[in-house]
Amino acid sequence: MLHTLSVAARAHTNIALIKYWGKRDDVLYLPTSTSLSLTLDSLYTDTRLTFDNKAKKDSLHLAGEKQDDASTAKVSRVLNLFRERYGCADAPAVRVDSHNHVPTAAGLASSSSGFAALAFAARALFERAYPDEPHMSDTELSTFARRGSGSATRSIFGGFVEWSYGTGSQDSVAVPLDNADWDVAMVVAAISTQHKKISSTYGMKHTAATSAFYSLWRQASQQDLEAVRAGIASRNIDAIGAAMEANCMKFHATMFAANPPFTYMTSKSLQVIEFVQALRDEGLSAYFTMDAGPNVKILCRRSDQDQLHERLSAAFPEITLFDAVPGDAPELLDAAQWSELYG
Ligand code: DP6
Repeated sequence: MLHTLSVAARAHTNIALIKYWGKRDDVLYLPTSTSLSLTLDSLYTDTRLTFDNKAKKDSLHLAGEKQDDASTAKVSRVLNLFRERYGCADAPAVRVDSHNHVPTAAGLASSSSGFAALAFAARALFERAYPDEPHMSDTELSTFARRGSGSATRSIFGGFVEWSYGTGSQDSVAVPLDNADWDVAMVVAAISTQHKKISSTYGMKHTAATSAFYSLWRQASQQDLEAVRAGIASRNIDAIGAAMEANCMKFHATMFAANPPFTYMTSKSLQVIEFVQALRDEGLSAYFTMDAGPNVKILCRRSDQDQLHERLSAAFPEITLFDAVPGDAPELLDAAQWSELYG
């Protein structure tokens, strides 16, 4: 009975150590460079998909609230790719219920966990409904998540993950590098959880089109990527952190050099950055990165996380801190788990 079929999944957010910042194809979501991230355990999205025979179109409910047509259209665009893949253009409409355990749209990458959870649940839903179609691998699945939001590509795996530039849509995929099951963690300083003024989609397009530094950024990013890869291979947090920070600063520099220029950094972000640098001068291995928002994410040893948290919280009592350790790949949630969590 297709119309009662329901599947739920949890996917974790990821933080880019080497940033994705620009598309070479806006429809296929092909990036202008390879990026590399760490999946985090404590920030995630839970999403349930249900075939809704009575509805004419897909619907999206975030924390129980029905979302507008523009947000629903982004979700339908991804669901339509699954309809095409499973050869069932006439599949029923899907009701999407989603709960973010990430402050939405505040540079804390809720779109990465959101579209990864959607894609992971959609594969299970369509495979159950259309079992004769060939199985979709995690690698192929990452290309479906990518079409919702580029950063979601990397949330299909846990630990350190690379999203390859690729030659085209088939091989611009997520590649798991290392499960990060060692002495590594992050503290997220959530300076503002307000909706961001300039979306990452717009910010990267504007930067790629106008920034005087954009081509330099792409070249330099490749070198930073190689340094982070080497740091991961040798489990050297200082090598990873130094290359991650350098990449972050170049990434923000592209926006300073855009026309008109803009920045996601605030004076508070800079205060946190200075504080992290001062902690490092004291001998603590702590390194910052920032995305398309004012929040600062600090990479550290897991064994130093409590100390880092305490020092940040004493210096910035007004800032909410989230502790995170490396997270796993997405997982399915059964009906009992879902109803216990969301009724
Ligand atoms: C700064 O994945 O949100 O977080 O593909 O347009 O949906 P779209 O953009 P999105 O951009 C993320 C940008 C970033 C860097 C990163 O995560 O690599």
